[in-house]
Parts: sequence; structure tokens; C-alpha cells
Amino acid sequence: MSGFSFQHRRDLDIFLNINHFKMSWDKGHCAEMTMVCLTDFEEYAKQHLSKTTWEYYAAGADECCTRDDNLLAYKRIRLRPRILRDMSVSDTRTTVLGTEISFPVGIAPTAFHCLAWHEGELATARATEAVNSCYISSTYSTCSVEEICAAAPNGYRWFQLYLYRDRKLSEQIVHRVEGLGYKALVLTVDVPYTGKRRDDFRNQFKLPPHLKVKNFDGMFQQQAGSQEVYGTPANTLDPSISWKDVCWLKSLTQLPIIIKGILTKEDAELAVEHGVQGIIVSNHGGRQLDGVPATIDCLPEIVDTVQGRVEVYMDGGIRTGSDVLKAIALGAKCVFIGRPAIWGLAYKGEEGVREVLQILHDEFRLSMALSGCRNVAEINRSLIQFSKL
Ligand code: LAC
Repeated sequence: MSGFSFQHRRDLDIFLNINHFKMSWDKGHCAEMTMVCLTDFEEYAKQHLSKTTWEYYAAGADECCTRDDNLLAYKRIRLRPRILRDMSVSDTRTTVLGTEISFPVGIAPTAFHCLAWHEGELATARATEAVNSCYISSTYSTCSVEEICAAAPNGYRWFQLYLYRDRKLSEQIVHRVEGLGYKALVLTVDVPYTGKRRDDFRNQFKLPPHLKVKNFDGMFQQQAGSQEVYGTPANTLDPSISWKDVCWLKSLTQLPIIIKGILTKEDAELAVEHGVQGIIVSNHGGRQLDGVPATIDCLPEIVDTVQGRVEVYMDGGIRTGSDVLKAIALGAKCVFIGRPAIWGLAYKGEEGVREVLQILHDEFRLSMALSGCRNVAEINRSLIQFSKL
């Protein structure tokens, strides 16, 4: 991907101009369709997805305070740039769990990509492979893990996992993804029950009949008359999940375990004590407990508690390259984007997700250069103006 190897700002400017021209050309006279920032994709998705699908992805729990604060919190943070540091060359690469990726942004697990684009997760997997990033594929995928791996055989992937009442199902998927070359398990821990997303109730959200939670096609035990929730029979998830299940999971697999959904220093400490390899600071895009803080506001206490013993990542509210810069400055090793990837899919499938990642990459590189950081290792807390937090 040529777009990911700019050494000089001038090359980037030339690329942006050519790309701008090409995109306008591709779209004929639709020059106004040129995508400049992630919210352009949001606008497109809102216009083009069905109301029910749009509202499913956009949903937050209850009054959506946390969903909205995830974005607003970034806007409250001010930066302290350094100057005159020779920004002619910059390097956005980093590593996660020892593997190099092109910049510290990956794809967060989100459900049902076929609702946004007919190729669904296959397109997401190809786009992430093309830009050498990390794709956390969701349990609730509308393509199977086997299909995802076949579509992007060299992609770097983690698998997002829920624990089910029927532990055999969980065990089986763990062995499948391990065999397929997934590099980590991301255990989501903030859903003993699903948060109340009002629009989904109003719309009686249901997967259309031609789509399925493909990883478990035909494997769920559907009780006669039982309701379906997000493509699975109600009561499939296990609300009794506890730290001892993390130990159980460790006994099943050699894969690193990353806990997704930690918001406090107390739970971060417990996660480290239970031998996980990573933490994703996440409030599920504001879709679970409304009223918890924005993830960027939770990040510092967790980073301070963990003290480098495991990697700390985060998701929620990333919309610009300077949001990424702020998260890395506050100690995240990598951030993950959820809804923006869906908007990219809705726009143009694989190409749309690539464009979203490319724009975020270009913005991140520019923010680094304007704040005096030549590489990711130079991004640290001295960039943040704490008195204004
Ligand atoms: C959601 C579930 C499926 O947030 O994780 O929609």
C-alpha cells in the first residue's frame, strides 16, 4: 500500500491531491462526494443504510450520555506541541503483542457487517490486511471465521469472544480460531446482559432472514417459542461469568487473552493478576451501562495501575488523527475504531474501510508532525495539558 509508506510530507501532499482528483474522477461529476474526514462517511452511511440498520449501529444505551461523551471527552483535551524538531521524516508504525502494524489503529469488533455491505466481514478483513492493521473479528459476524481467513489469508487478526451458558460452544470456537491462526482472544466482559438500546426496541431489531451469526450456524439450541436477541436465542450469553472463567479460558488455549470492557483501576489490577496479556479500555461504544465515563477519561488510571505489565488499548469515540494522538499520549498502545469502519463499509465495502483507515492514518501522521513527534515512541504524556483535563 503506497499510501502507508510516505517518508516526506511533500509526498503525502502529492498523494492527497492525486487521490482527491482520482476519487472525484471515479465518481464522475460527484466531486462533492470526496471524503475528507470520518464524519463524511458517517453522513453517507446515515443517508444510505436503512433506518433500522443505521439506528442499530448508532445506538447507545438509555439516554446515550456515555456514547456521546466518548467523543466529547477528546475535545476537552488540549495538546502541548513541541516545535523545531525536524519533521521531514516520520514513522507511524508500532507493535501490538510484538507484531508490527502500520499505525496504532485497528478495527474494533462490531456485529453484522453484511448489514452494511453485501460482502460483510470479508471486505473488512481484506481492507485491514491491505493496510497492515489489526482486525478484531466479532463473534457476531455474518461471515464465519473460516471465510474471513480465506478472504485475507495474511491478515493479522484477533477474535472477540463471549462466554455462553453452553461452554462447549465457547470451547469449540476457541479451538477453531486457534487452528485458523488468530493471534489473540478478546474476551468481552461487559455484557452479562445486553444494554437497553431504545431504538432497537422501537424497531424490534432482528437480523433479516438471509443473514445469520455465521460462526454458530445451526449450533444454538433454540427452545421452541424462545425469543431471538441479536441473531441468537435469548439467554445464550452467560450472566454468571466471573474471573474464574478467565482461568478456565486460559486452561483451554495457548493464545494470549485480552480483556475488553475494563473501566476501573481495580479491575485492571485483577486482570493483570489473572494473567491476561492485554486490556481494552472500553464501554462498548456507550451501548451497555449509560453513565460510565468516556473511555479516554478512564485510560490514565488504568495505564498508571498496570505500569507496563500488560499492553493497554482502548476503543470509543475516535474520529480524528489527533484523537489517536491523545490516546497514545495518555498511554494506549493502540486504539480501535468501531462505527467508523461500519460507515466505510456502507460507503464502498473494502475500499471504503481502506479509505477510512487511510484518512485516519494521514491525519495521525500530520498530528504527530505538528506536535513534534517523529515516531510513536516519542508520543507521551508531556503532550497533554493536564490543567485543562
Ligand atoms: C452489540 C452487541 C452485539 O453491541 O455486542 O450490538
